[in-house]
Amino acid sequence: MNFYVMTLFPEMIEQGMNTSITGRAIAKGLLSLKTVNIRDYSVTGNGRIDDYPYGGGAGMVMQAEPIYRAYEDLKARIQGNSDAQVCPRVIYLTPQGRVFHQNMAQEFAKEENLIFLCGHYEGVDERVIESIVTDQVSIGDYVLTGGELPAMVMMDAISRMVPGVLSNAESGQSESFSDHLLEYPQYSRPEVWRDRPVPPVLLSGHHGKVDRWHREQSLLRTLQNRPELLKEADLDKTDIAFLESLSK
Ligand code: ADE
Repeated sequence: MNFYVMTLFPEMIEQGMNTSITGRAIAKGLLSLKTVNIRDYSVTGNGRIDDYPYGGGAGMVMQAEPIYRAYEDLKARIQGNSDAQVCPRVIYLTPQGRVFHQNMAQEFAKEENLIFLCGHYEGVDERVIESIVTDQVSIGDYVLTGGELPAMVMMDAISRMVPGVLSNAESGQSESFSDHLLEYPQYSRPEVWRDRPVPPVLLSGHHGKVDRWHREQSLLRTLQNRPELLKEADLDKTDIAFLESLSK
């Protein structure tokens, strides 16, 4: 999986991605990360890449041409590295996009190359979006100062789906959203922490009871925090009886 990021703040992306699990995967060669500084493609020669919006309004707009040139250069480099005529997907991070979801992470993880376009200021000239972007993605209903954090959020979630990125222990964990249920709570030593004991069933050594307790905690959390997910979940009779007992 090769990530390419077009941004005005390459150091932000590199710092974030070269840390922790994604950093380890990059060092191992399971992932690669290349950033492209859009400012290097300024057409005015002074590093400027933004201008006033036509029609007026607050803020500045990132111009089409520097982004287009950065993209053309990047595409040529990617095509130079591969035998086939690849045309990678270009993801533009914007609150106006489709909301990111675990299923999307799974879909994107099947690609060999992904290009992210991070906007800043008030936006990006629509014409370059129309001409190069294949996917517009939002990471939630709030507005951030730029697309760098959303791009990192997406790359992190996608990386976890790439074989070998997570160790067996890491990937063996059951996952929130994988079956439309939230994850159950976890506990570690000590057995009693500041007067709070670990739920006794977890110390019982009875696997059947522990599994049932995990399942019930997942159901409970989902009901409390994300009840709409339960409609999609695969529930058996025992699950339904448990949920009904809660509402009594
Ligand atoms: N850029 C600014 N806010 C954003 C968001 N919520 N998602 C994706 N890109 C953004």
